[in-house]
Amino acid sequence: MWWKDSIVYQIYPRSFQDSGETEFPNDGFGDIPGIISRLDEIKDLGANVIWLSPVYKSPDADNGYDISDYYAINPKFGTMRDMEKLFAEAKKRGIKIIMDLVINHTSDEHEWFVKSRDPQSEYRDYYIWRPGKTDKRGRRKPPNNWTGFFAGETWEYDEQSDEYYLHLFDKKQPDLNFQNQKVIEEVKKILRFWLDKGAAGFRCDVINIIYKTSLANGKRSLTVQGLEHYKSQEGCHAILQELRRDVLDKYDCFTVGETVFVDIEDAKLFSDESRKELNMLFFFDHLEVDRRVARFIPKKFRAKKLLQMITKWQQGLDWNALYLENHDQTRIVSHFGAAETDQTADGKPGILWQRSAKMLSLFQMTLRGTAFIYQGQEIGMTNFDYSSIDEVNDVESRGLNKLMTKLHIPASLRWKWIKASSRDNARTPMQWDGGFNAGFTKGKPWLAINKNYKYINHVSQKNSPDSILSFYKKLISLRKTIKCLSCGDFTPIYGDQWIMIYQRKLDDETYIVALNFSSNSVIIPAKYAGLLKGTQVISASSEKYEDYLMPWDGILIRK
Ligand code: NOJ
Repeated sequence: MWWKDSIVYQIYPRSFQDSGETEFPNDGFGDIPGIISRLDEIKDLGANVIWLSPVYKSPDADNGYDISDYYAINPKFGTMRDMEKLFAEAKKRGIKIIMDLVINHTSDEHEWFVKSRDPQSEYRDYYIWRPGKTDKRGRRKPPNNWTGFFAGETWEYDEQSDEYYLHLFDKKQPDLNFQNQKVIEEVKKILRFWLDKGAAGFRCDVINIIYKTSLANGKRSLTVQGLEHYKSQEGCHAILQELRRDVLDKYDCFTVGETVFVDIEDAKLFSDESRKELNMLFFFDHLEVDRRVARFIPKKFRAKKLLQMITKWQQGLDWNALYLENHDQTRIVSHFGAAETDQTADGKPGILWQRSAKMLSLFQMTLRGTAFIYQGQEIGMTNFDYSSIDEVNDVESRGLNKLMTKLHIPASLRWKWIKASSRDNARTPMQWDGGFNAGFTKGKPWLAINKNYKYINHVSQKNSPDSILSFYKKLISLRKTIKCLSCGDFTPIYGDQWIMIYQRKLDDETYIVALNFSSNSVIIPAKYAGLLKGTQVISASSEKYEDYLMPWDGILIRK
């Protein structure tokens, strides 16, 4: 299966490259011709698959995750012809493209929803419309007590029909009704359309919550209330099997599901090849080892905890989707690495920023599964450097700010938590070079560029053998030649507050990985020191390992 040893590169189109060549030239949004102009960089990195975040027509209430036409391209990004050219140009370079499949909800501007506002319409049942309730004082109340993923309401009242519709995300993202077979048939049509155009598969947005078994009240919860009625339901498994049987299995393609709040038992069902549902899935546990309330409130990091989490998933599933970043997460070098402490006031990063980014890439590239790299990760891009909520665009951060204000949480704490969790941390424009607007656009960027672009950019790393980018390239080529790294068995060896050691083994090949997640030099406990004797294949510091790990170092040893 070609997708098993693939390296996937995720593009968040609006922040990747503004070509200046669409209907809206230099509008400060990345676009499809911009992606085409950077395909050689992606190939040069060693990636052979692109996951393209949504480029479909959308009013952009959630940056394209609110689709108003699955068969059309957002004019900000270009045209269908540009998209076809992208498929063709990528193919020439041996790169496949997977599309983002956002089917839990559409935009409220989708024709289906617009029509469904009429209770008599054949589209009414495409969505989840319900009458409200009344409280003791006779006031109108939503149909249940669910709370949403963006820290807000989940039901929106519609005057015209005196009913509410369900939206687990923003009110401009009404949920589709997957109890309606017609909706499933529409999804099959969408899949076929894109597969016939040349797509090599799909990243399936919040796919484990599409089927709502019941609309009963949810158990009280600090995060999303109501989850037990729609998370990983039997109905969802059945739909995935149907899509696989009727469409996906007829093409040479793969799917990776984004599965929210997923536990290992659910995950086994979704990704077990014999059940024919998803080929692999994204889970969240590893990025939440130092977070509370999903990912919103920071807590102390322990390498041992991270090792335990990773072990659970490495050993629990046959195949993993490996990621440390995407457009919803903070930058990994700011999260688990040294970027936050190793940067001057004007954004100049130090050597530990660089070494920790390399150590983290060594971590990701020495796990079993298919590796996903998010744009900018390969050059160690960091979290945004904004100083107020007004600079933040993310609909989720804004919802959270509103809720925290209602709960009388002081402004300084609100900002601290938003800074640590906002999805805009990963959405600042790609830093291509040290020139005007980091080479991203000639216009005004839709989201402010991190001022550290003068120091952290692609061009400055491209020809430097010591750069993070060069390190990624080396690791990717090692991963392609040493099968043990992508396919070998995973065994944890040691973890404490700052370091972790694990083993990879395939037939008679054994590799040991040791990682230091701290600014201290750490001596390896005597009991394990012998294990690190062998041939050092690569290290984040470029130094030879001698009984202790340098700050933020990571080493790969062949036994
Ligand atoms: C997950 C996507 O990755 C995120 O960006 C989006 O806001 C939600 N799903 C809703 O589609």
